[in-house]
Amino acid sequence: MELVKNKFNIGGVFEYYKNSSVNKSLEKNFLSHLGNFSINGRSSLLHILLELKIQNVKKIYIPLFCCESIILTIKFSKIKYSFYSLDKKLNPIINPEKGSALLVINYFGRESGIVKKYERNKNNNYFLIEDATHNFLSKNFNPTLKTHYVFFSLRKHSHINMGGWSNTKKDLFKINKLHKEIFNESLKLKIRKKKLIEENKYVNKEDFFVNSFNRIEKKISKIITNNRAPNSLLKEIKKFPWVESAEIRKKNWKVLDDLLKNNFKKVFDINCKNEVPLGYVILVDDRDKLRNYLKEKRIFTSIHWTIASKVNSKKFSFEKNISKKILTIPIDQRYKKSDMIYIASCLLSSGIK
Ligand SMILES: Cc1ncc(COP(=O)(O)O)c(C=O)c1O
Repeated sequence: MELVKNKFNIGGVFEYYKNSSVNKSLEKNFLSHLGNFSINGRSSLLHILLELKIQNVKKIYIPLFCCESIILTIKFSKIKYSFYSLDKKLNPIINPEKGSALLVINYFGRESGIVKKYERNKNNNYFLIEDATHNFLSKNFNPTLKTHYVFFSLRKHSHINMGGWSNTKKDLFKINKLHKEIFNESLKLKIRKKKLIEENKYVNKEDFFVNSFNRIEKKISKIITNNRAPNSLLKEIKKFPWVESAEIRKKNWKVLDDLLKNNFKKVFDINCKNEVPLGYVILVDDRDKLRNYLKEKRIFTSIHWTIASKVNSKKFSFEKNISKKILTIPIDQRYKKSDMIYIASCLLSSGIK
C-alpha cells in the first residue's frame, strides 16, 4: 500500500506542466488575436448573454445535463430559461422558439450534432450558443469561422485554473487587481506541487495543497464578471503547449481503451483523428464504490455532473440515469503509457462495474 501511495498520483488538481517544445501552442492561433479573454467560462458566457439581451432575447434553453455554473450564470443574467433533454448520443431534443437562444454543450470532446445543422441552415430564427469547453482542443474546432456565439472555459485541461474565451464583439472592462492576485497565488502553488511530486515528497503535504486549491477554487467560482483576464494569465495561456497536450490525451485515451477491451461501458467512442477527449468517460452501476476504490489506489476521478436542479419528470430519465453512473478517468498530458497500464489494471481488478 505504501508503495502505491508514493508512486502514483493520478488525477486531482493539476500541478504545473511545462513542455520542452516552446510555442507549439501558437498553432491554435485564434488564441492570439480574436474575441475576448475573461476570468472563467461563466464570465465568457455572461458576456454573450449581455450581447443577446441587447438583441432582445428573452428566453434561453439549456441542457439539464450541465455544469451548475451555467445555471448560475443564466440566473445572474436574469434571462428566463428552461431545460431541455438529450437523446442517447447526447444531442439536444428541442425546437427553440423564434427569437430565443439555445445553449449546446460539446460534451467530452465531441461537437454537438446541432452545431453543423445550424451552420448549414441559412434560415435559423434563433441564436445558438456553443459551449466548447470540452472540445476546443479538437483539430477541426475553429472559432474564427463561427458566425454564431461560442465560448469556452480554459480551466479544465491544464494547470491554468482561470480563463474563459468568447467570440463577443464588445470589449471587456479593465483588469481587476484581485483576479491577478488569485491567479499568481495559484500558479505559485502549482509550481510547488510539481516540484514536490518530482522530489517524491508530495503525499506528506497533500492536505495542505488540497485545502489551498479548494479555497482558491471557491474564490474563482464566485466570479461572474465583465473584467478582462490579467496579462499574467494570458501569458500562461499563450505559452501552454495545447497542441502537444491534445496529442498526449488522444494517445492515452487510445492506450487505455485498448487495455480495457470493452469491459467498461463508454459514453461514446472518441474518434481520435479529430476529437480530443476530456477524459475516459465511463458509465458504472456501482459508480461511487468504484470511485472510492480508485481513490485508494491514488487515482482521482471526477463526476460530470450530478444534476443540480430538482426536476421530477419522466422527460429527464436519461439524464438522471447517466448522472448517477458517469465517471471520468484522467488521461491528460501529465501521464504516460505506464500510468494508463496502472489505471487499466486497477479498473479491471476492481471487480466493480
Ligand atoms: C461544459 C462547461 N461549460 C462551462 C463551464 C464553466 O466554466 P468555469 O468553471 O470556468 O466558469 C464548465 C465548468 O465549470 C463546464 O464544464
